[in-house]
Amino acid sequence: MFIPEEIINEIADKTDIGDIIGSYITLKRTGRNLTGLCPFHTEKTPSFSVTPEKGMFYCFGCQKSGNVFSFIMEMEKLTFPEAVQYLAQKAGISLDIEDRESASAENTFRRQLYDLYEKVSLSFHYILTKKDSSEKARKYLEDRGINPDTIEKFRLGYAPGDRRWLFNFLKKKSYSEDFLSRCGLFSSNYRGVSIFSGRIIFPIISKSGRVIAFGGRSPDGSPPKYINSPETPIFRKSDELYGFNLAQKEIRKNDSVFIVEGYMDTMAMVQAGIENTVAPLGTAFTENHANIILKNCSAVVLVFDGDEAGLKATVKSSYICEKAGLECSVVELPAGSDPADILKNSGAEALKNILKYPINCFDFLLNKYKDIYDLTREDGIKSFLNRLFMFVSIQESEVRRTGRLKALSEALNMDYRPVYDDFTSYIKKDFKNKTESGVVPGGRQGISSELYLMLAAVDNYDYFYMIRDEFSIDDIQDTAARNLYIILEECYRNNSFSLEIVLEKIDNQDLKKLVAKKLSSDEFTMNPKQFIEDSINMIKLKNLQIKRLQLEKKIGKDNGADPYSMEKLIAEKLFYDKEIEKLKGTNGNVRVTE
Ligand code: GTP
Ligand code: MN
Repeated sequence: MFIPEEIINEIADKTDIGDIIGSYITLKRTGRNLTGLCPFHTEKTPSFSVTPEKGMFYCFGCQKSGNVFSFIMEMEKLTFPEAVQYLAQKAGISLDIEDRESASAENTFRRQLYDLYEKVSLSFHYILTKKDSSEKARKYLEDRGINPDTIEKFRLGYAPGDRRWLFNFLKKKSYSEDFLSRCGLFSSNYRGVSIFSGRIIFPIISKSGRVIAFGGRSPDGSPPKYINSPETPIFRKSDELYGFNLAQKEIRKNDSVFIVEGYMDTMAMVQAGIENTVAPLGTAFTENHANIILKNCSAVVLVFDGDEAGLKATVKSSYICEKAGLECSVVELPAGSDPADILKNSGAEALKNILKYPINCFDFLLNKYKDIYDLTREDGIKSFLNRLFMFVSIQESEVRRTGRLKALSEALNMDYRPVYDDFTSYIKKDFKNKTESGVVPGGRQGISSELYLMLAAVDNYDYFYMIRDEFSIDDIQDTAARNLYIILEECYRNNSFSLEIVLEKIDNQDLKKLVAKKLSSDEFTMNPKQFIEDSINMIKLKNLQIKRLQLEKKIGKDNGADPYSMEKLIAEKLFYDKEIEKLKGTNGNVRVTE
């Protein structure tokens, strides 16, 4: 069987050699390598090493080396084409010719996009650094303390103020109008109008170093301050971290990463010499981000503004990080200032000094909540404990849980025992909530489970796809939930989502208020993916149970009707019984309470 090189490259790209080899032997991270006991010869001290960056393995003992294909050939005793097939299947890549042809149109589009973004990025960069007309933009960056080196490193650019310049420029380079209308650089409402015109451009660069999208800042801060590219086949927001390509090496070397809030902050950190720094792309930090990080290091330091929004982000992000198994600590900056301000106003040394002493996220939150809640009052203590018990329960280590509970009892000036007892009942209640109502703590407050699910999806748009995969609009009964479904579906199809868009599109004032209220609470911050998954299953289960009930009624009523149709009804009921059992199986012991 002949397998084109392109496919082999694709498989190699999508395969994590660390994951593959790690499923045969235990690997431990040491700097940029993973090491373990060699599977090809007997040894007691590890001399086998894997370098994920290069996709290679090497044994210092028996000198065996190779890539992921040769590893599988050796381990599974396969020929090369068989190993390719084996890994293709794991990576979800089809080798079937017909599948590949339909996939290849998509691939061509992707290739064209990569090519376009690279070219446009070069032009924007040239314009920023060389053209007279960009004088103001250069001055702006200079005023913000960004030096030419950093501009080069991050490949910053400037998009000319003329809103049609880019379209005409690209058409002259013989790009088709159809392609340009789908490439993500132009307004979907006004043909040929660039969404980035007059903005300073921050290219968003993939892990492998390719430009895949842009962020653009208006130099005078006029709203919207930032605009980001919509999602395209080469760009999924929640898969990317700004600065990751530059930072990866240092992240691995230091076994830790700083997470800051924005583009400017990332650049400021790097300019100050703290190169292991990344930022989410203006969205919240997600489980996806945590998993990308986990493949590269074991610790994160969150660097956030000391204001209320900063605290909220810290709570959410540290929960996600700890849950993913990352060591998480926090540096709190003075309220209202960010790394970029500090670099500019006080210099690199000052910034480095502030970052020297991160505090473990639990200790950090404990101190915060100690100030926020009145611990001389019972309700204050209750809220304090509920907030922090969450961070005790995600720790798997008993030693750590005990350590954290002790810290809590000390903060309250109490014995360990009562705190421990309250924690135990918290865990029980938490578990009961999760399993009996299918809803994580927070309650439903008279809102239908469908609407509650859709509210969660507005707050966590990254997971909306899970809902649309399961339900079409006709599966949803609740009017308000249907409203939100339609709005999110529109965002999905236009590849553009923002809370402003969603709020604007809601006609019903009560619903608008409800959405705004839920978004400013942190009801949906904890483990949203699990919550959405559980809710979907619960609603599916409920719908099935309703159908079964209707059937049961019908079977009762039709008693005495012709045996053939009766048989069909019973068969149908059996089908529902089975589906219901299956769902219950996947969903622990969820019980429908409505
Ligand atoms: P400066 O204001 O230039 O210092 O940038 P910043 O990076 O410090 O911005 P800020 O702290 O206000 O926001 C953090 C991040 O949120 C930014 O880097 C953007 O990714 C994102 N962001 C901020 N404002 C907007 C906006 O108006 N629209 C969008 N889509 N994203 C924004
Ligand atoms: Mn800023």
